[in-house]
Amino acid sequence: MKRLNLAILISGRGSNMEALLHAAEDPDYPARPILVASNRPDAKGLDTASSAGIATAAIDHKAFGKDREAFERALDAELEKAGTEIIALAGFMRVLTPWFVGKWEGRMINIHPSLLPKYRGLHTHQRAIEAGDAEGGCSVHWVSAGVDEGRVIAQARVPILPGDTEDTLAARVLVEEHKLYPEALAMACQQILNSGRKVEFPES
Ligand code: GAR
Repeated sequence: MKRLNLAILISGRGSNMEALLHAAEDPDYPARPILVASNRPDAKGLDTASSAGIATAAIDHKAFGKDREAFERALDAELEKAGTEIIALAGFMRVLTPWFVGKWEGRMINIHPSLLPKYRGLHTHQRAIEAGDAEGGCSVHWVSAGVDEGRVIAQARVPILPGDTEDTLAARVLVEEHKLYPEALAMACQQILNSGRKVEFPES
């Protein structure tokens, strides 16, 4: 069975990355991790990936000042060198330029800690609690030009309980993230494999 070469982009802890690496230990999983890259050289997830025997790259965005695209061109060179066929953003905390998104659209997915389209951006759990929502959750979506705006692949829901704080809710959602992301990545791989090199989205 064809497995897509998977690059995972992280900025920190990398617990979602770890969940993906774990799922991909199954030889029947449709993605094979070939690279873990971070914009932060001190990201803990880089050590976890190295220990698992996965190639890593650290491209420090600070070295590029305000030039986001120059940072992305350096990142893209690493992705191409590794033979990347699908990108999973896993706690990658850089907003991507239209150039990078345009290049990888239909081959790049992200996990976001809210029930999209609710709470794009940051502080999602705090905002859900303040709004009095009964449920929080997470979404895996295709990455498109608008931040956290691409088509949703899959979502998981958790209750918001009385007395929840941002931290308690984040912890409850994270458990679901680790289950959802491997499933959604497998679905994305199947879509790519079914449609050729990348998924084309109808004009909306
Ligand atoms: C996860 O909760 C992920 O959903 C979130 O950052 C955390 C990363 O944790 N992503 C975003 O907020 C993206 N906008 P991890 O490094 O342990 O996977």
